[in-house]
Amino acid sequence: MPRHFLDLFDVTPAEASMLLDRALTLKKVPRSSLRHATGRTLGLIFEKPSLRTRVSFEAAMTRLGGASTFLKGEDVGIGVRESVHDFARVISQYVDVLAIRTFGHSIVEELARNASIPIVNALSDDAHPCQAMADLLTIREAVGTLDSSIKLVFVGDGNNVARSLAVACALFGVRFVLAAPEAYNFPDAFRSRFQSAFPKTPLVIEHDPVKAVAGAQVVYTDVWASMGQECETAIRRTAFAPYQVNAALFARADRDAIFLHCLPAHRNEEVTDDVLDSDRSLVIPQAANRLHFQMALLDWLLTDAC
Ligand code: CP
Ligand code: NVA
Repeated sequence: MPRHFLDLFDVTPAEASMLLDRALTLKKVPRSSLRHATGRTLGLIFEKPSLRTRVSFEAAMTRLGGASTFLKGEDVGIGVRESVHDFARVISQYVDVLAIRTFGHSIVEELARNASIPIVNALSDDAHPCQAMADLLTIREAVGTLDSSIKLVFVGDGNNVARSLAVACALFGVRFVLAAPEAYNFPDAFRSRFQSAFPKTPLVIEHDPVKAVAGAQVVYTDVWASMGQECETAIRRTAFAPYQVNAALFARADRDAIFLHCLPAHRNEEVTDDVLDSDRSLVIPQAANRLHFQMALLDWLLTDAC
């Protein structure tokens, strides 16, 4: 069975730590000396838009000496033009690893059950594990450590990005808090899975954003309406208005707190320009780390993990 990367619930703390070490090592290695993926191909299938994930995966594969092939979801029609099962068995004959961005997480799981190559979740409605690992890499570089001395507060929707971050923080012992309105809290299924995976780690939800960010070393936010939820934009704007990360809210965090956002951002909606463009905002190095984490991930999946 190939090793997949669908959700951080499937990753051990030792593996998560090894992947960040590997990313930091690869970041320092001169590009021309990397040949870990020579002769290997990465398939990329995206059913939703992307800048960072698509381009950083393609660049990662190029830097490792391999190649990639990109297909728009509508051109492939997984589960429409042919069954997920047939698609998985055929694509496994052509590429060595496949990253997919789709809606239902069950599609990613069904692909993994039927493929003979590693499957990577490049974002589903439930999880964005590559993003969360790049985020932890960014915090480790900025703060110098990853442990319970760090409090990360995610202000906004309990969405795919927030869920993967909560799990990533639990893997490294970082204290995670979700500041969300009651209606946009984590779903029950996620909460029960989290509690059974990390019985000693409370999943802290705080509805008051000001209370939540007190003493935080990291303040994180994401769009209020994720891809596929565009028809809910107006209602979500009202619900999340008190959760905007603006200078007043950010000032309640630790004096040296950093600001993170997975991007793309809706400027002056979930975050104001003064926070997003401040010296304490690390969103650009955070985006850069998508490339470095994914180099480590591809290297692992194509070598040691198989
Ligand atoms: N953060 C992120 O995944 O960005 P893209 O949607 O542009 O890939
Ligand atoms: N929560 C967002 C993240 C985009 C990178 C979405 O799913 O659209």
